[in-house]
Amino acid sequence: MPILKASPLVEALQTYSAPLEGRRGLLRLDFNENTMGPSPKVVEAIRGMAPEHYGMYPEYDALKHRYAQVLGVDKGQVGLFNGADGAIHAVFQAFGAVGETLLMATPTFGYYAPCGRQQGMVLQAVPHELPDFHYPRQAVAQALQSRPRLLMICNPNNPTGTRLDPSWIRAMAAAHPHTLVVVDELYEAFTGDTVLSTALQQPNLLVLRSLSKTAGLAALRLGFAVGSAEIVERLERVTGPYDVNGFAVTAALAALEDQDHVCAYVQEVSAARDWLLSQLAAAGLRHHCDGGNYLLLWPDQDPDRLVAALRRQGVLVRPMTGKPLLDGSVRVSIGSRAQMKLFWERYQQCAGVS
Ligand SMILES: Cc1ncc(COP(=O)(O)O)c(C=O)c1O
Repeated sequence: MPILKASPLVEALQTYSAPLEGRRGLLRLDFNENTMGPSPKVVEAIRGMAPEHYGMYPEYDALKHRYAQVLGVDKGQVGLFNGADGAIHAVFQAFGAVGETLLMATPTFGYYAPCGRQQGMVLQAVPHELPDFHYPRQAVAQALQSRPRLLMICNPNNPTGTRLDPSWIRAMAAAHPHTLVVVDELYEAFTGDTVLSTALQQPNLLVLRSLSKTAGLAALRLGFAVGSAEIVERLERVTGPYDVNGFAVTAALAALEDQDHVCAYVQEVSAARDWLLSQLAAAGLRHHCDGGNYLLLWPDQDPDRLVAALRRQGVLVRPMTGKPLLDGSVRVSIGSRAQMKLFWERYQQCAGVS
């Protein structure tokens, strides 16, 4: 029997997969997740969900309303998605088109490029500037002259931590109204840099947020797109009517009631980060840390072997093998001080750093 082929665009793709299997019970420093868990209020709310609600399609109005209230925006300016990834996918579905250009700085979050390829877009990836991985402002400003369809900006950037001044993003969006500028602010809680207030007035600027990283709800998949009501409505046109599940809605409402939990987590991560940075400096180990709850380090030995050795010791980190500019490094997510102490102890054992 001949195998039925998908569309030519899909036949040219590869499955986008991440090393997500077999991580339970290990110290997870490989996906920049919250490593300490969600608010107890979330757990209580999920436990309290009436079984009758398991059988019902979810309702979204209350959550949209509440999130809009938290941000001080209108309900119509908020879209709910199955994780920020769902929002990214919708952006490309709605605004990508064959032959149009996706502009981004590289390396960056790995899901933008496959979404662009799915739409047959031309990828224009401008490298970050070495040695400190600065955002390539001049080259991006130059590339914007050719009217790319989409500019994806991750601020702070995963995995380099690169921070970009929100006023520069605003100026670019204002000067290039034919380009949709999407600012992925998943790690914004760690820097405070945001273009949110402008996104509401500037029709070609969209902000993405999620409850995966600080609120500790990565498994439940809840992301937001915030911007002009017209853009958000276009994204909703390409999103299924019940793509966000009811457990996620219940959990999100509870998480939004406990901002103190998120603030305490962010503070703990920041203290843990300072501690780890002092250890790395004292050990003379090459590293790079900027915004976000993660840093890059360059082990003296083969990074893949080191990552495997750490896994055997119960610690997961992410090799950057094959990533532009980052070959030879590993990305380490930052958790609590106790977790980073454990990481550093195990790292020294595996790498022989004294
Ligand atoms: C920059 C960035 N955007 C989006 C995502 C996906 O987030 P979510 O879990 O909300 O789909 C991630 C996850 O690692 C990320 O790092």
